[in-house]
Amino acid sequence: MKSLLVIGGLGLLGNRLVQKARASGKFSVDYTYHTGASWHPGPGHLLDVADLESASRLVRELKPEAVINTAAFHVVDACETDPAKARLINVDASLNLATSCEKIGAQYLFMSTDYVFDGKKRGKYKPEDEPNPESVYAESKSTAEGELLGMDADNLVARTSVIYGWHPVKKNFVTWLLGELRARKPVKIVDDQYNGPTLADNAAEVLLRLVELEKTGLWHVTGNDCLSRFEFALKAAQVFGLDDTLISPVKTADLRQAAARPMNGCLDVSRTEHETGVKLLNSEHGLMVMKKQEEEGKTN
Ligand SMILES: NC(=O)c1ccc[n+]([C@@H]2O[C@H](COP(=O)([O-])OP(=O)(O)OC[C@H]3O[C@@H](n4cnc5c(N)ncnc54)[C@H](OP(=O)(O)O)[C@@H]3O)[C@@H](O)[C@H]2O)c1
Repeated sequence: MKSLLVIGGLGLLGNRLVQKARASGKFSVDYTYHTGASWHPGPGHLLDVADLESASRLVRELKPEAVINTAAFHVVDACETDPAKARLINVDASLNLATSCEKIGAQYLFMSTDYVFDGKKRGKYKPEDEPNPESVYAESKSTAEGELLGMDADNLVARTSVIYGWHPVKKNFVTWLLGELRARKPVKIVDDQYNGPTLADNAAEVLLRLVELEKTGLWHVTGNDCLSRFEFALKAAQVFGLDDTLISPVKTADLRQAAARPMNGCLDVSRTEHETGVKLLNSEHGLMVMKKQEEEGKTN
């Protein structure tokens, strides 16, 4: 059994990692949480990754064989006005955890984003394509990627995108959308940003497999799809049997957001699927899994 520490274990992805790792019987799992969450899947460790000494101490004391860091400052527009915080949480705190892992010979996995690309490529981005971040958030993730992959250590960077799925308390794009549609509220969704939306359960499964296989380097871990957010919203409405006429398209430029978003954030996941043996689901399949989970009452 491999010992695993999940940083940010109450988050959307972190929660799925903790649950799936425990259920697999292949991992003994510790996790950290940050702000005073009202629910817990068992006892965790309170940690602010920006407290570098406490983070190092925790790794030293627990001596996990692998650490998956899901914590981030990822409010993309807020990063534009607080670049120092983006640097601290997304770069410095991550490098600190990686160094702590290196000292005890643990694997370190860092979560990055499709936003490291400028979105100007036609077709899906491959891991070896050159990043060109266009926002503070993306720049911080890209900097962390470069530093982590340049270290002489067992680091792994996994880029993901538009994570969705059930969560005990946190809303994400799909759970928010379902709430609005069920309340019969009209919504406007961008139709010029393309991604491969990622079911949290599916990403967790792939990440745990990468840990098991002791992989290092750069991996794309997204849904195997490439569709606009508007198309994704329509699909969600259809899968859940809701009124898709409530959804209308809007252009990114009309939203006047502080941070730039890549219009194409679609990532090629073929190597990830091939080497892990886990299928990365397309949007329809992922949404159908979510619908089934709801029918079975498994929304926590
Ligand atoms: N969600 C997406 O669509 C998406 C897309 C691309 C990449 N990613 C990346 O994937 C990773 C996981 O995303 P997610 O959607 O699962 O995020 P999430 O739900 O917000 O989970 C992140 C967790 O990290 C914790 N955290 C935040 N700041 C922290 C700090 N200073 N110290 C310790 N813990 C802290 C948060 O706790 P509190 O809430 O208590 O602060 C939260 O539980 C992130 O690295 C993100 O950048 C996400």
